[in-house]
Amino acid sequence: MRPGTRPTAVLMDVVSLWAIHLSSGSDFTTQEASFLTRALRTAVDALSGTHHHNTVLHNIQAAVLLSQYFTRNTRFLEAKYHLGAAVSLVLGSGLHRIRSPDSNVVQPSGGQRAFRRLPPPRDAIEETERINALWTVLRLDRCWTAADGSPSNIPSDVRIDTPWPLDINSPDFPNQVLPNSSTGTVTAFLANLPDSGTSVTAFHVKAAILFEQASRLASTYRQDFNNSELHRFYVSFNSLDTLIEGFKQNVPPAQLHPTKEMLIIQSLVHVATIQLHNPFVADRDASRLRVLDAARAVVGCLEVMPLNEFLFVDPILGTLLMVTCQVFVAELARIKRHRTYHGHGHSSVPQEERLLMDATDTVLAVMNVFAPRCRLMDSQLRAMQQLYDAV
Ligand SMILES: *[C@@H]1O[C@H](CO)[C@@H](O)[C@H](O)[C@H]1NC(C)=O
Ligand SMILES: *[C@@H]1O[C@H](CO)[C@@H](O)[C@H](O)[C@H]1NC(C)=O
Repeated sequence: MRPGTRPTAVLMDVVSLWAIHLSSGSDFTTQEASFLTRALRTAVDALSGTHHHNTVLHNIQAAVLLSQYFTRNTRFLEAKYHLGAAVSLVLGSGLHRIRSPDSNVVQPSGGQRAFRRLPPPRDAIEETERINALWTVLRLDRCWTAADGSPSNIPSDVRIDTPWPLDINSPDFPNQVLPNSSTGTVTAFLANLPDSGTSVTAFHVKAAILFEQASRLASTYRQDFNNSELHRFYVSFNSLDTLIEGFKQNVPPAQLHPTKEMLIIQSLVHVATIQLHNPFVADRDASRLRVLDAARAVVGCLEVMPLNEFLFVDPILGTLLMVTCQVFVAELARIKRHRTYHGHGHSSVPQEERLLMDATDTVLAVMNVFAPRCRLMDSQLRAMQQLYDAV
């Protein structure tokens, strides 16, 4: 937020709610309940208020924070509701058409995509805040709808023209330049065209898009595909696989950037590989090995992170760690089945199993770091422990 601007009431109330939430851990206190009630009331009032420079952005930020708050507390319906509100605000104020060649075209009134444009930004910071608000909302939409398999809140025919986000808090911010004109930003990325989105924030959004695309594509696979369906599927599969691998080459290594954001970026992109190849692990060794490599890469990334300094992380990490953990547990189960079948039951645990168990233990230990302050992570940790105990 720029100096000298006052946060609107809704943002103040939501930030107070978060402060109470973060200081009280996973216990829902009566004090937290009253802050929540108050924040929800102001959020409703804010939506009927005037659309001013700051109010729209603050309403978007408030909706995002409320959605994340409910997600952390496993209140998924409310989380979805506020994420949907954030998407409506973003699209309704035209944040997806910043620097679009179409941005001056007057929308026909009553047209399907009519939106009330904001006044022109006053400076580069305000424009970047708008750009980043769009991408924050899009990233959350991609992550959480992919995580539960629900359709995106952003209709598939909405073209995103806004340029990739910049690292607004970086000292290097004044040197980062926006393209003069920008069109079909996400489509161009998915078509593997070169672009100017090389900020950490842009990598974060792109990783979320890859995670979402991989999860969705894998979920469309059917054993009974006929030849033409299978062909179509593999064309998409190969192009996404190539895109993900290329992205891994470009993203800065975690060892050199041991930050929370880099942890999420690396985890998203490796889990994208896992999601993409998961339907084939039982039948194809190549896919099984790709999935295992990707899961080990997540663990490698966890090992270089100063996790105890983080305290709070984006709750999507819990979902990504669950997927990672399931890979190791499935592989352990496979090896055990194989061993029993071939009748080499020995008392000592073979090296291969030992390594898988160590990897699983690492993932569970990391979940355990964050579980006391996040109800979602706590419930995911319990589920993974049960799964592991059953092998
Ligand atoms: C953008 O426009 C400005 C002014 O019209 C021009 O000086 C600059 O070279 C342009 N930048 C790019 C990347 O085209
Ligand atoms: C394959 O299945 C699709 C949809 O089920 C169908 O439209 C198509 O005609 C089929 N193609 C062949 C070659 O059987």
